[in-house]
Amino acid sequence: MPQSKDVVAINEVVLRDGFQNEPTFVATEEKIRLANGLSLTGVRRIEVSSFTSPMAIPNLRDAEDVFRGIDRVPGVIYTALVPNERGVQRAIESKVDEVNLVMSIGEKHNLTNLRMTCAQSLEQFKGIMGALAGTEISVNGTIATAFGCPFEGQQPVERVLWAIDAYLELGITGITVADTIGVANPRQVGGLMALIRKHHEDLPLTLHLHNTRDMGLANALAAVDEGVRSFDSALGGIGGCPYAPGATGNVCTEDLVHMLHGCGIETGVDLEALIDLSGTLSESIGHQVPGYVLKSGTSSRLYA
Ligand code: COA
Ligand code: ZN
Repeated sequence: MPQSKDVVAINEVVLRDGFQNEPTFVATEEKIRLANGLSLTGVRRIEVSSFTSPMAIPNLRDAEDVFRGIDRVPGVIYTALVPNERGVQRAIESKVDEVNLVMSIGEKHNLTNLRMTCAQSLEQFKGIMGALAGTEISVNGTIATAFGCPFEGQQPVERVLWAIDAYLELGITGITVADTIGVANPRQVGGLMALIRKHHEDLPLTLHLHNTRDMGLANALAAVDEGVRSFDSALGGIGGCPYAPGATGNVCTEDLVHMLHGCGIETGVDLEALIDLSGTLSESIGHQVPGYVLKSGTSSRLYA
């Protein structure tokens, strides 16, 4: 389990970000099987599902059943995305370890995705924090469209800092900065991560990348160079926000781990176990996945 400051923690989001964007329903037993497999790979956190409206995200309508079915491994954080107060009640009942709030800093994407303005989202979050008071459930705040909104374009860095402050005022302890539509480039990522760390040196910061324009791994490395030690990624590289036009998969977990290990950066994750699990994914979802290492083998592969 990653603990040292020099070890990068991997947060696996295939069950949430990955499956929310699949056109066909992924069987509950398949979700549980994957969650149980992932729990044994050394990832720090697993985003198991989301407590969203089943009309908005039909593929995750079985969130309660998945939480009920999984075997929880001590030390692994089982989290779920929650957009509103109705969602947090469901999350509490499902005994999540962590609630992951989400708000897009692009107002138009927040309206499209969550049918709320940012002010309305923050109002919901106040109620959520109230509902969680006295529980042991921790709260992470995700800043979506942090590098660009599909409707409003690039967001000013001040707006990212504003969102961090708004989350911190609510008492949230961890922040995730998300490139929801995969528009960030490595220089932009490095610059923003450095700026955030300058303002909030000890803030537990996670970067959530999508590989829509093939800059995902380069962006991850740029963030590592600026001291970021926690990444969201999805097995096989699937995923995307159904309410962001043109969105495609997350940075691929096994490709990210493969790159980090190759660079001499520890993750505490068993790469071979990840690749084996990723190899089972295409059957669960009925199509191939975009990841590279699964097809090519690792860079130490030899041929006869
Ligand atoms: N869980 C389950 N059902 C919910 C819910 C939740 N968290 N929040 C609302 N609902 C239900 C309501 O009970 C209501 O049902 P009813 O019509 O049977 O009475 C219905 O959904 C509409 O409720 P309302 O409060 O008007 O919500 P909305 O239609 O404005 O939708 C969200 C708001 C946030 C619930 C919805 O947009 C959503 O779930 N978005 C998630 C998008 C997402 O996950 N994107 C990808 C990740 S970034
Ligand atoms: Zn995402």
